[in-house]
Amino acid sequence: MSSRSDGDNIILIGFMGAGKSTVGRELERLGGLCLIDLDSMIVQLVGRSIPEIFAADGEERFRDYETASLHSLVGVHRTVISTGGGIIGREENWKVMHRLGPIVYLRAAWVTLRKRLAGSQGRPLADAGLEMRKVEELWRDRLPLYEQADISVDTDDLNAPEVAMAILQKIGRREGKNNA
Ligand code: S3P
Repeated sequence: MSSRSDGDNIILIGFMGAGKSTVGRELERLGGLCLIDLDSMIVQLVGRSIPEIFAADGEERFRDYETASLHSLVGVHRTVISTGGGIIGREENWKVMHRLGPIVYLRAAWVTLRKRLAGSQGRPLADAGLEMRKVEELWRDRLPLYEQADISVDTDDLNAPEVAMAILQKIGRREGKNNA
C-alpha cells in the first residue's frame, strides 16, 4: 500500500480526544474495513478497566500490555486500528505499526482537544480533576512523535465522516502513486 509498509490496514494515532475511536467507526462504515480498538483489546485481555490497570499495575505495565496487544495484530488485514494516545512512546510500537499499514495522525489544536477532554473520565492521564496545564505539557511533548506519521489530517474543522473521507482519499492517492 505505502512505500514504508505492505500492510493493508490503517493505523490511527493522535492525542486523547483527537477522535480516533469515532473516526475509526466511520472508516469501518465508509471504507468497508474491520475495526479494532487497541484500548478495548487491552481491557479484554487484562479483564480490568484502563484506570484500574493504571492504578494497580502502573503506567509502564499498561504500556507492556499495549505493546503486546499491538504485536498480536500482525497478520490482520483490511482493518482500522484505533490506538491509545501514548502508543507513539515506544520505538518498538512504531516498527509494528509500520508493518501493519499506513500510520495516520489525527492532528488537532490544543484548544480543540481541551474542549473535547473537558469532563473526560476513564483516562488516567487526562481525567477531569487533573491540571489541564499538565495535560497540555504532555500533548506538547508528544507532538514531534505524532508528526512522524505517514499521513496527517487536520481535524479541527472537520466532522468524523469528513475526516474518514480525507483519510481514504489520501491513502488512495498514495496507492495510485505506488502503482504508477
Ligand atoms: C492514553 C490514552 C488513552 C489510553 C490510556 C493512555 C495516553 O487512549 O490508552 O488512558 O497515554 O494518551 P485514548 O487516546 O483513546 O484516550
